[in-house]
Amino acid sequence: MVMEDLRARCEAAGQEQLLQFWEDLTAEEKISLEEQINALNLTDINEYYRRTQTIKKGAAVDDQLEPLEPEVCGGTTRTPDHFLELYRNTGLEKIANGEVAVLLLAGGQGTRLGVSYPKGMYNVGLPSRKCLYQLQGERIIRIEQVAAEKYNKHGNVPWYIMTSEATKAKTSEYFQKKSYFGLKKENVIFFEQSTLPCLTFDGKIMLEGKAKIAKAPDGNGGLYRALGSSGVLQDMIGRGIKHIHVYCVDNILIKMADPVFIGFCVTKEVQCGNKSVEKTNPTEPLGVVGKVNGTYQVVEYSEMALKTAQLRTPDGRLKYNSGNIANHYFHIDFLADIVRNHDGELTHHIAKKKIPCVNEVGEPVKPTRPNGIKMEKFVFDVFRFAQRFCCWDVLREDEFSALKNADGAAESTPTTCRHALYALHYKYILNAGGRFSDSTGSVLPEIPGHVSPILDETREKGYMNGSNADEASSSSDEEVKKSLVVEISPLVTYAGEDLEYLVSGNIYAAPLIIAASKESVGQSRIRKPSFIVDK
Ligand code: UTP
Repeated sequence: MVMEDLRARCEAAGQEQLLQFWEDLTAEEKISLEEQINALNLTDINEYYRRTQTIKKGAAVDDQLEPLEPEVCGGTTRTPDHFLELYRNTGLEKIANGEVAVLLLAGGQGTRLGVSYPKGMYNVGLPSRKCLYQLQGERIIRIEQVAAEKYNKHGNVPWYIMTSEATKAKTSEYFQKKSYFGLKKENVIFFEQSTLPCLTFDGKIMLEGKAKIAKAPDGNGGLYRALGSSGVLQDMIGRGIKHIHVYCVDNILIKMADPVFIGFCVTKEVQCGNKSVEKTNPTEPLGVVGKVNGTYQVVEYSEMALKTAQLRTPDGRLKYNSGNIANHYFHIDFLADIVRNHDGELTHHIAKKKIPCVNEVGEPVKPTRPNGIKMEKFVFDVFRFAQRFCCWDVLREDEFSALKNADGAAESTPTTCRHALYALHYKYILNAGGRFSDSTGSVLPEIPGHVSPILDETREKGYMNGSNADEASSSSDEEVKKSLVVEISPLVTYAGEDLEYLVSGNIYAAPLIIAASKESVGQSRIRKPSFIVDK
């Protein structure tokens, strides 16, 4: 009887393939599959799929696209220093007042990177062996400290971490094991986003096993539903949080609770803000922020015709050049409005993926080419509900290097991330008055010209062959040769500040590692009053 009812419901929804192996299942498996089907709203799933099919690509968006108004835009390279200082101080004051939170989107499955644990636990092979979560946690500690020193008041920056079925247990266990990287446990709040079944290209729910539905997280835009259902929105309101910085787990250069960005958004009194990097090449696969039909939106590169992507302004820059890096500001009132009133209006997008499944005889298959779709909401799809919006451009080399792929891929790998961090920290040392010498002892020019500073490549490799080398990436020799290994602990500096007294006038032979005195850097150390400089 129960079975007949189940079959009737699946058939009514056109999803009868879910029961195709029913006769082969044990009693336990039948119960499990039935529970999984009961947990789904088949009507909603079919409707989400139907709506994804109505999203038009290409010309339709181009015809309605306009650039952002100049008055909503700003950027680090075109803002006078005194305004940058003003924004920074505004942001620091909000941090010191305890009004700022960071929210990490960490529910993705990281399939391209291909490790069996959450991406945030990945160690890209820095000398310190810190994983992405640790770098982020320590940046929170440091920015709280900078704000407290400036405003004589300590505000906590709560860290809200959105996980999914795929990442929740491992992430929370890892944080516990690592003592929350020095943060207070009560200020690290985990919550879980929902999942949706994976579908074939024609909308049929896929089976991962004979009695197991293939599921995936519902995209980083699953955030809004999860904020409501988990009670996290209420938690934020209860703590007096007003400004929320939302970011992705994979950007190794992420500036947690960036006071400059927050200060810009606060000064502009916006509901929502976007941090972007300049897109310089029309065919770069990066979505851009613009206005579509009068509302703020991120237009994916695949949704724009080449002729539109190639348009330029009179000064030669791309007309649509604010490249989206999933780095956002939300005012709490806006976030609450989205969660309470607009989440249901967000449409899922489809991502074609290689989805492990069973074949027609129930054998497991690991596809080598995309064989189905995941339905995902995007975090930035709520921009269209904002009347007051701003966009803040930052330098890519200072703020964005994403870990997407395993080493061997052309870009966004552990090696490119590691080298982006070294290059930034190298710049911090030069800006603070330090210099570097090569392996012969000659001082390297500040601007090395066409000759990249070549260092002893065995030293970088030496750092990377440590005890947890299974998690560390390996790197290509060519890249190692070009790299200058400089790593400064986030506990020492957040964005290059407070380094002068430590490094000014000094000449270092890389690798150079600067850590706070309580940190272990595992190599020979020179002790300074409150720092360890390892070179
Ligand atoms: P990506 O789209 O790059 O996905 O996520 P991913 O999971 O990291 O990697 P692939 O595509 O499987 O290789 C961008 C950000 O959005 C988060 C990710 O954790 C990452 O921080 N995300 C993605 C979620 O929080 N939930 C999701 O459902 C999807």
